[in-house]
Amino acid sequence: MNAVPPPGCPAHQPMYGPEFAADPAAFYERARATGPTTPVELAAGVRATLVTSYDAALHVLRSTETFSKDARRWNDLNDGTVPADSPVVPMMMYRPNALFSDGEDHRRLRAAITDSLARVEPNTLRGYVERSADTLIDRFAPTGKADLLGEYAQVLPLLVFNRLFGCPAEYGLKLVEGMSGVFDGVDAERANELLVTTLFELVTLKRKQPGPDVTSWLISHPAELTDEEMIHTLVVLMGAGTEPQQNLIANALRLLLSDDRFAGDLSGGSLPVEDALDEVLWTDPPMANYAVHYPKRDVMYEGALLKAGDPVVVSLAAANTDPALTNDQRAGNRAHLAWSAGPHNCPAQSEARLIASVAVEKLLDRLPDVELAIPVGQLEWRPGPFHRALAALPVTFPPTCAVGATVPEEPTGSRPQRPYGSAYDAPVAGPVPVRSRSGWVRLLAWWRGE
Ligand code: HEM
Repeated sequence: MNAVPPPGCPAHQPMYGPEFAADPAAFYERARATGPTTPVELAAGVRATLVTSYDAALHVLRSTETFSKDARRWNDLNDGTVPADSPVVPMMMYRPNALFSDGEDHRRLRAAITDSLARVEPNTLRGYVERSADTLIDRFAPTGKADLLGEYAQVLPLLVFNRLFGCPAEYGLKLVEGMSGVFDGVDAERANELLVTTLFELVTLKRKQPGPDVTSWLISHPAELTDEEMIHTLVVLMGAGTEPQQNLIANALRLLLSDDRFAGDLSGGSLPVEDALDEVLWTDPPMANYAVHYPKRDVMYEGALLKAGDPVVVSLAAANTDPALTNDQRAGNRAHLAWSAGPHNCPAQSEARLIASVAVEKLLDRLPDVELAIPVGQLEWRPGPFHRALAALPVTFPPTCAVGATVPEEPTGSRPQRPYGSAYDAPVAGPVPVRSRSGWVRLLAWWRGE
């Protein structure tokens, strides 16, 4: 067994908890002082090496002959040093999908994803986002206040996901219920079973009745994914397509509403949304630290020993803000690592960017006088080593009328039981109580029309 770092061990700086979440930049600065890589603790007793320099990040992400994505190599999980119920295990454990595969297996699983996403029409996607955004804004527009995280950024990607993946209403409800349990750790085993069973039902339905949706395109791809591969591919698509997506939307709204450089443009009517998205992708990337790799053998990198099977986590956030990068390298280009780099870079960059820019534009267009309800410095960030995620984004604005949008009809060709769920079709006016519950539970309540 490997030695578990004692709490507060200076050799493994803890990358979790409120202190880290409140000021990750200070953490990265301290980490850089030890060189391009530094030992960290991702959760109590979970050791890893964090890569903080831009050059070292690219080296790890691109050197497939040295670094593997296959989490079955993770020594500390295999020998029990890291308990199976550690909070970081669900994000790091092996699943049979593209994210955790190397070489030919990866190429096959990823081709199914990229080819299927390429069939998504940008205009269709834009329409899904616009109508989902209108439906959500209608709920809080007459009230003059909202939590743009819980009532907007968090729900919108789920609505869009369900449209893109052709989920009938009752499946959507069960998927949200399953995800809520898995994320919140409430009866997680039952919740995980519900998630997997529902995804299996969705795959079975789409095998029988394909439609113009990503699930059906994945199924019909020449890669011939098995049911198990389909389910775990849908899990990564759902996880990747919701959590980082919500953080990009919320972090961009925060920047636009708090930074004077954008304020003038907002009132002038020209919305510099693309600039704000670029800036967030450089300075507050939604996946701040991830791209976990495992050295295939012991390697020395710039004086540090990276042991075979010990996790190497790439700090996309620290690499982006590496002082060694000049402003010329940053300005006006998109060489940031928010989408990662190398063979595992995000295959949904254009879709994710489109969803975020339409979501932000729509909100600012409908509520042009929206303001933060509290000083920007008082906004809280969620703890956790991997994401850069606000806990809430409270705003106020002059109350306005709902425009009466409903979520769009099912695309022709896919065979829904009914057009989307009753909660979608229900009248949406009236205040939405802000509950002190987790996002997923709030979402579930919203979905049920509570
Ligand atoms: C703002 C939103 C998003 C951000 C910031 C983001 C970021 C990332 C990053 C950093 C990775 C690399 C992870 C790693 O190497 O371990 C990744 C991979 C991935 N992302 Fe995204 N993503 C976003 C949205 C999406 C969406 C909307 C989808 C799908 C609909 C998606 C699907 C995936 C998949 C399947 C992978 C794994 C690719 C592979 O291993 O080959 N992402 N994403």
